[in-house]
Amino acid sequence: MKKAQYKRILLKISGEVLSGEGNFGIDSEVMLQLAREIREVKNLGVEMAVVIGGGNIFRGIAASSKGMDRASADYMGMLATVLNALALQDALEKLGVQTRVQTAIEMREIAEPYIRRKAIRHLEKSRLVIFAAGTGNPYFTTDTTASLRAMEIGAEVILKGTKVEGVYDYDPMVDRRAKRYEELTYLDVLKKQLKVMDATAISLCMDHHIPIVVFNLKKKGNIKRVVLGENVGTRVRG
Ligand code: GTP
Repeated sequence: MKKAQYKRILLKISGEVLSGEGNFGIDSEVMLQLAREIREVKNLGVEMAVVIGGGNIFRGIAASSKGMDRASADYMGMLATVLNALALQDALEKLGVQTRVQTAIEMREIAEPYIRRKAIRHLEKSRLVIFAAGTGNPYFTTDTTASLRAMEIGAEVILKGTKVEGVYDYDPMVDRRAKRYEELTYLDVLKKQLKVMDATAISLCMDHHIPIVVFNLKKKGNIKRVVLGENVGTRVRG
């Protein structure tokens, strides 16, 4: 039987994945399926933390491009991630997966505040930790949050779940000849401005040698495949 390649991972889930076929909100079927897949990976004995986006509810950058103050829009985006985190916690706990939500903006009535050492302790006790409210700062994306938290908790890899198979040389929706990269370096991503993560997030991973695997989260069984080291998605490293 294949064994997990990692002991501790950070899974980044984009908000858009949660809305299913619609473009907005949380699709309960999608959430349930995601929770099942996460449970399967946890059952391999992998310690797992999750950073969740909020784009299915509110997109800070889009709102600021329409004239809203960027910082305010980003704070709204951070609150959107809290909604997703609570929904994911609910879905996971219904399946018997112990979870703790920690928020970067304190809202103690709703969840624990982010405390790095406590998060690590939860992981050691086999609890899944969901990090919500981004970094707590405007102008930083949830991808940057994923890089930052991955470093803080000593994750060996960031699994970036998206709606596409990986990173392509051209937009696969526009050009059918577009090819998926199996592997890229951080510098390739920065130089070619490939849409893996924003530059801040990539630079953090590059400086601290944390590999990223970009993969299609919508394909059933994919999180497990990545964790087992199968050739899924695009791997970014030094
Ligand atoms: P251990 O210390 O390892 O036993 O971890 P624990 O998380 O089980 O203990 P704790 O007593 O800290 O937490 C019990 C429950 O309360 C857990 O579900 C936590 O998520 C929750 N909890 C802890 N601190 C806070 C907080 O500041 N706000 C909220 N809303 N919940 C909290």
